[in-house]
Amino acid sequence: MTAASAPGKIILFGEHAVVSGIPALGGAIDLRAKVTIDHLPGRTLIEAGDLMLKGFSIDLISGQLTSAGAANATRYVSAVLKEFEARDLRVKVESDLPAASGLGSSAAIVVAATAALNEHMNLGLSRKDIASQAHRIEKAVQQGLGSPMDTALATFGGYLQVSSDIRPLDLPQLEMVVGCSGWAHDTRSEVEKVQSLLVRHAEIVGPIFQAIGAISTKGVHLLRELDLQGLGELMNINQGLLEAVGVGTRELSELVYAARGAGAWGAKLTGAGGGGCMIALPPPQGSSGVAMAMRQAKGRAFAVQTGCEGVRLEGCS
Ligand code: PMV
Repeated sequence: MTAASAPGKIILFGEHAVVSGIPALGGAIDLRAKVTIDHLPGRTLIEAGDLMLKGFSIDLISGQLTSAGAANATRYVSAVLKEFEARDLRVKVESDLPAASGLGSSAAIVVAATAALNEHMNLGLSRKDIASQAHRIEKAVQQGLGSPMDTALATFGGYLQVSSDIRPLDLPQLEMVVGCSGWAHDTRSEVEKVQSLLVRHAEIVGPIFQAIGAISTKGVHLLRELDLQGLGELMNINQGLLEAVGVGTRELSELVYAARGAGAWGAKLTGAGGGGCMIALPPPQGSSGVAMAMRQAKGRAFAVQTGCEGVRLEGCS
């Protein structure tokens, strides 16, 4: 039996602009997806009874599916198995990460599955190979769009600055409160919407992207100095700019304002927007008041640490 786990992520600054080569800053979080692989002669079975989605089980030969969330996780695991021509095994997926919410759940599943298969089949992949294979597989399943940020963070962990290349950054861990709006989002359609706005209003959206890039770059310095007030201000400005390009929603805004009203230094959506999650930087008194205010605004709220460990092999009990 072999198992590997990989973290989800938040984007602190720079989503959408990064698609046009502008720097973004992302951090791995302490919520993980775990993939366990067992030898199972004559069959290929994917199980995910412990996802934050609905529990399910699917036999790839009989093809029985029992939930839409299950289909999502299965698509990614099946793509990994196909890539490495893996068979005769049982794959079990467990995840703390809500799906289709901007927290990198599919990347964490793809990276953990690739790392577990690497061990199970002795593929000899380095971490760098795992990151690039996982990005290729995730991109193929999502049909061609997407920066390597999620798969790189799931593999390497910590913080990454992503633009035309990927730079690991040594920055302190932070506590953040994540608020999920409860609306699944579709990264591809949000990216297409923003990129089309950029084409139609380049002279306006271009400078917005430049401003977002300046926020990401300054954010790195403020995070290094643990200047929480400054970071919060940048989060609020970034949120305004994401609203300007049309990826905010009423539900996300309600969570953002609830968090700020409860004293958060700053709050913004994270990921593609159009649903999914937002993040808030809690005040010195801690995250519980902010989380409570976000729950009262009908969000699911939980505290996370950022800058956490990347993919790792897990002991099997
Ligand atoms: O919502 P997510 O986790 O899929 O993040 C999307 C981030 C974008 O910048 C909007 C797209 C990308 O590929 O970087």
